[in-house]
Amino acid sequence: MFTKHVLIRTLAESSAEINEAAALIRCGGLVVFPTETVYGLGASALDAHAAEKIYAAKGRPSDNPLIVHIADPSEADALAYPSDLYYRLARAFMPGPITVILPKKELVPDSVTAGLKTVAIRCPSHPVANALIRAAGVPIAAPSANLSGSPSPTTATHVKEDLDGRVDMILDGGAAEYGLESTIVRVMEDDSLLLLRPGAITLEDLRAVAERVEISSAVLGALKEGEAPQSPGMKYRHYAPKAPLFLLDGNLISIKNFLAEQNGRIAYLSYEEDADELSALSVSLYFLGKQNDKREQSARLFSLLRKVDKLHYDAIYAPLPSTDGMGMALYNRMIRAAAHQIISL
Ligand code: TXA
Ligand code: MG
Repeated sequence: MFTKHVLIRTLAESSAEINEAAALIRCGGLVVFPTETVYGLGASALDAHAAEKIYAAKGRPSDNPLIVHIADPSEADALAYPSDLYYRLARAFMPGPITVILPKKELVPDSVTAGLKTVAIRCPSHPVANALIRAAGVPIAAPSANLSGSPSPTTATHVKEDLDGRVDMILDGGAAEYGLESTIVRVMEDDSLLLLRPGAITLEDLRAVAERVEISSAVLGALKEGEAPQSPGMKYRHYAPKAPLFLLDGNLISIKNFLAEQNGRIAYLSYEEDADELSALSVSLYFLGKQNDKREQSARLFSLLRKVDKLHYDAIYAPLPSTDGMGMALYNRMIRAAAHQIISL
């Protein structure tokens, strides 16, 4: 398949291309588009066959459901049974980096929800995503636009590495603002929330809107042997670099001493402040950002993992992040990329 690449500078200059992408979506085609979190691989959410093509293009297991993207929070009414709590979340956080799981209506095909009775709803804030959904006139089902098993793409270059020749069009809207996927919450029957995947909308943010927020056990730990996942995506090992990644739980001096003892070609994903202390080591340093700037670290993490992975290190090390604020999202992605290998120093 030939993939058309389009650089979007401004919406006004690119309206012809966005209309072309929207027409492709309506005809059952696959279009990659930017969002504020990561790039999405989109198809009409009302077309069962088009949604099936997404799984094939990504190499995604067919039991892992897709998120349905809408242009306005009220469009959830046509697809699902939104509760009052959904609308409170929508007023607080939409459009923006949050996905809400709701009981689904018949209209949504089984291939979108992988046969589940619930559907994941998200209203992205990225202007190109919003313009595309409006122009298409249908909700857009989209997982992250990476091949299954590689990190979510935060630039159109990452998308091209994974999906060139597998999709009809790629809309390049520059680097993603947040760089980690949306926060996913499930609205429970008793009006509590279950946090399934942390993101830029933090636990603290959610607790300001909902009285009760539970954290799924898979967010900060591994699923136990035989434990049923609350979200199908939890079963799969994600974002795993080829070289083993280890997270180091310790202070800078203990990390320095530990790295000094390692042999082979080693990469360390460092905080910027630690550069001077670590620069004498025979370790390649890559910078996540400032230690307290979780937003910056989140925006860089996946891009760094892709870059470091191409250089065939023997091992990659990174500091274990704290779990407050957006740290929880970083922690969740990093323990999965590290297959839960944490070294206490
Ligand atoms: O930021 C994001 O959410 C990006 C952009 C493109 O919107 N999308 C994204 O999609 O990260 P994906 O498919 O890579 O991750 C969606 C996750 C999967 O782990 C899936 O199992 C879960 O959402 N999910 C989808 N529908 C669900 C449902 N009905 N119940 C529970 N989990 C669901
Ligand atoms: Mg994904």
